[in-house]
Amino acid sequence: MSLQAARNQSATTPAGTPTDSSKALYGGKSTRRVSIHDIAAATERGEKWPMLTAYDAMTASVFDEAGIPVMLVGDSMGNCHLGYETTVPVTMDEIAILSAAVVRGTRRALIVADLPFGAYQEGPVQALRNATRLVKESGVGAVKLEGGERSHEQIKLLVDAGIPVMAHIGLTPQSVNAMGYRVQGRGEEAAQQMLRDAKAVQDAGAFAVVLELVPAELAAEVTRTLHIPTVGIGAGPDTDAQVLVYTDMVGLTGGKVPRFTKQYANLRQVLGDAAKEFAEEVVGGAFPAAEHTFH
Ligand code: KIV
Repeated sequence: MSLQAARNQSATTPAGTPTDSSKALYGGKSTRRVSIHDIAAATERGEKWPMLTAYDAMTASVFDEAGIPVMLVGDSMGNCHLGYETTVPVTMDEIAILSAAVVRGTRRALIVADLPFGAYQEGPVQALRNATRLVKESGVGAVKLEGGERSHEQIKLLVDAGIPVMAHIGLTPQSVNAMGYRVQGRGEEAAQQMLRDAKAVQDAGAFAVVLELVPAELAAEVTRTLHIPTVGIGAGPDTDAQVLVYTDMVGLTGGKVPRFTKQYANLRQVLGDAAKEFAEEVVGGAFPAAEHTFH
C-alpha cells in the first residue's frame, strides 16, 4: 500500500485502532528503544503517533511507562522549566544536561533534543559539533533544529554523519524577535514558501518535520506532499503525529496557554493543594505523625 493510501485509510480508521496492534508505535508490544525506522514504518502503516516534551528524568519515566514513543527535550524548557521569557537564552549546556536526564529516565522512547538558538546558525560545522555532543554526551537518538531552506546544509551534514534530524518549520520560536508568535503560511506566497521549506528538509534527509502554528489545510497539503512524517502543533488534525508541550498538557503552565493546546489534567491545582495541606499539617503539628517518626 502506498504511503498516501495508508494515510487515507487511517483517516477512515477509528482513532487508536492501528492495523497491526503488536507493532504499533503507541500501544505495541516492543520494549526496545524506538528508532527512526520504527517511526517511518508506523507512518507507512498509516498510524498516528504522539510526542511530548520532557525536561527531567522522573517526568520522562512517567511518559515512557505511559507508552509515549517519542519525547522531545525541547528548548521550550526555556519558558517551561528554566524560567526564561522565551527559548532564545537556552544554552547547549542546559540542553545537554536535561537531555541526559531524560535519556536516563526512559527505556523505550526515542529521545530527540533541540539544538538551541545559536548552536547551528553559524553553519553546518557548528551544527555537527553541537549535535555530536548531544548524541555522545547526553545519549539522545536524534536532534531537532528550526528552519526550512535556510537549514538545508546543516541537516544534510548531520544526516551524512549519521545523526537523525527532526526539522521544524512554520512558527519557529527561536526567531520570535523577528517573527512574533503568529500563524505562519497564510496567503499564497507564504504557503508556497512553506511547501518549499518542507521539501527542502525532506531532501536534506530529515526523518520527520514539526509544523508549528500552520493553517490546517496547508498542514494537510504538506503532509500529502511529503513522504516523511509531519508532527503538528497547532497545525490541525491531518498531520501524521501530534506534539504538545507537556507543562501545557498537564496544566502546570501558569497564565495563558496557546489555543491549540489541550489541558488533560490540572497539576497546578494538585501541587498547590498538596503544598497547602503539607503546610497546614506542619503548622498544626499533624505532620510528622507516629508512622513518620523514628525512635
Ligand atoms: O521546544 C519545543 O517544545 C518545541 C515544540 C513546540 C515542538 O519545539
